[in-house]
Amino acid sequence: MKDNLNIVPFVSVENMMRLVLDRGMENCMAEIAEYLEEDFRRWPLFDKTPRVASHSREGVIELMPTSDGIDYGFKYVNGHPKNMKEGLQTVTAFGLLASVETGYPVLLSEMTVLTALRTAATSAVATKYLARKGSKTLALIGNGAQSEFQALGLKKICGIDTVRLYDIDPAATEKCAGNLADSGLTIVKCDTPQGAIEGADVVTTCTADKKYSTILTDNMVGAGIHINAIGGDCPGKTELHKDILLRSDIYVEYPEQTRIEGDIQQLDDDYPVKELWQVLTGEIDGRSDDKAITLFDGVGFAIEDFSALRWLRDALKSSDKYQDLDMIADPDDPRDLFGMVRREAQRLADS
Ligand SMILES: NC(=O)c1ccc[n+]([C@@H]2O[C@H](COP(=O)([O-])OP(=O)(O)OC[C@H]3O[C@@H](n4cnc5c(N)ncnc54)[C@H](O)[C@@H]3O)[C@@H](O)[C@H]2O)c1
Repeated sequence: MKDNLNIVPFVSVENMMRLVLDRGMENCMAEIAEYLEEDFRRWPLFDKTPRVASHSREGVIELMPTSDGIDYGFKYVNGHPKNMKEGLQTVTAFGLLASVETGYPVLLSEMTVLTALRTAATSAVATKYLARKGSKTLALIGNGAQSEFQALGLKKICGIDTVRLYDIDPAATEKCAGNLADSGLTIVKCDTPQGAIEGADVVTTCTADKKYSTILTDNMVGAGIHINAIGGDCPGKTELHKDILLRSDIYVEYPEQTRIEGDIQQLDDDYPVKELWQVLTGEIDGRSDDKAITLFDGVGFAIEDFSALRWLRDALKSSDKYQDLDMIADPDDPRDLFGMVRREAQRLADS
């Protein structure tokens, strides 16, 4: 029982990058998507709560907890759109898995890279179940940190072969196009958002601005399109014109959170939305026909991070890409925490 439980595997950014490179970026997203699908299918048994958010003028810091009764997980994540101009990431994260039985942590990890992988895997799962069959062309609006992951996730999991890029900052589009140059995707750089969504089967909006933006206006969105709107994820931070929402079949992760944070914050509190997990279990239908507009109003929910951490824990079984962290004070006599500190003082004095 007491088998080095005080030592917690820790995955640093360096080890995460090496693990992902070892397994292949696209393979990792496909594997995470499998864990996501598994957890979406057992959605009702999870503890669920809207994330705990601390808002400021500059951004937000959030805690995202959940449990399946065996493991407990949480992620710390921020969202600071102004950071990018200061040379900092908009989104950074780390997270932890713990045993429900003992309460002891079993894994601590960086989650900035892992969040990008899981967010792309989540968009891909939504696209797989909601987009028209045979969708090949993705419009990617917002070409920042998340963008390449979104492109590769949708390529690997949904068969996207062409990506049309647009960002208000042409340097971001150049960066994204450069990073995807050897991906096997056909990359088209566009000067306007209208140009980007021309001929697109799927649109992912992943922009960052702390305001009610209208990245897509109603006239830009034609019949049959599937939209992953992932950048509107905070009160007062949206991406789509309200009229698009009114024409779409809207799918969300956890309505109680999405009504606060998602694009649907623009709608009445009781506006009908569907829950993505129920499409996976077959409890509700996905796309009704080829003309429907489907919208995944993705804000990022704790269960997705839990799935990503479960994937990571299993991936570490065949990898050495972690360090042992002496993280939990665990005296031989559990009541003698004080004595453990005293013995250390003695050891220091003796050495
Ligand atoms: N739903 C989720 O699970 C999830 C997960 C991670 C990040 N996010 C959100 O996704 C968004 C993107 O994250 P990121 O890490 O890529 O941010 P980032 O700052 O690296 O990139 C954002 C990009 O959006 C561009 N942009 C801003 N306004 C635009 C506009 N009007 N039209 C076109 N492009 C515009 C910026 O120039 C920038 O290149 C953020 O809002 C973040 O909060 C959501």
